[in-house]
Amino acid sequence: MRYLPLLEKLAESVRSSVLRVYGSEDASRALSKGASGDVTKVIDKVAEDSVLEVLQGEGFKGSVISEEGGVIELGSESLYIVLDPVDGTTNATRQVPFFCSSIALSTGRRLKDVVAGVVVEFPSGRVFKAERGYGAYLEDRKLHVVKRDFREAVVGVNLNIKRKPEVLDALLPVIKASPHVRLFGSVALELCYIAMGGLDAFIDARGLLRVIDVAAAKVILEEAGGLMLSLQGEPLDAELTPTTRISFLAASTREIAEELLKRLSF
Ligand code: IPD
Ligand code: CA
Repeated sequence: MRYLPLLEKLAESVRSSVLRVYGSEDASRALSKGASGDVTKVIDKVAEDSVLEVLQGEGFKGSVISEEGGVIELGSESLYIVLDPVDGTTNATRQVPFFCSSIALSTGRRLKDVVAGVVVEFPSGRVFKAERGYGAYLEDRKLHVVKRDFREAVVGVNLNIKRKPEVLDALLPVIKASPHVRLFGSVALELCYIAMGGLDAFIDARGLLRVIDVAAAKVILEEAGGLMLSLQGEPLDAELTPTTRISFLAASTREIAEELLKRLSF
């Protein structure tokens, strides 16, 4: 394995930094507007700083593409750390125990170039991880999606539609047909839960989600045997920038993906 040892070091550092501020009043203090357009809070900044500090200490000579700090060049190599310091900040700052840090490594500037990823679950501190070609793991346990029939599926649907009613119209047939529907509030972690069999699918049809949020979880899900597609049913790809937004469907099996895709009415 080439890249996972570095990502695991970053995961370890971000874990202790985030847990130090989680639960404090200061964690939710707003600092400034981040590169992706949302407000950066103390907990986001603490997580980002800890990753940057370890990268500098390790002599990393590529760039960081982060939700908060934007593109930070630490050298001229074509290696990119794609970082969502805290995914699920709203949960984190209200002490709802479902959020994570997402750290991916890419050899190019597109989502398809991502070769390794770690997602640190909070507050448990468990680490989901994968490197392309080496499988996906939750701590030391190898992950495989669970191949269920659509009639038993638990489907995650991002209903955080931010006043875009047309998204709800498009999703309604999916919601009506799904046996169980969930929304937990941290997309990276929701994708990892498909990788470990907790969820069977997840749809984000809003066109609002940052590509940064899914970079690590996509490789984890794919290495566990799952798939991520565009809403047109094509392999998901996009440019890796702090502002790129995507829609997608993720599933444990192609059969479940097709059941959902045929019901989406765009
Ligand atoms: C958010 C989470 C959430 C999704 C939001 C994202 P953030 O990430 O992934 O589940 O509904 O659209 O912005 O902002 O906490 O990194
Ligand atoms: Ca974030």
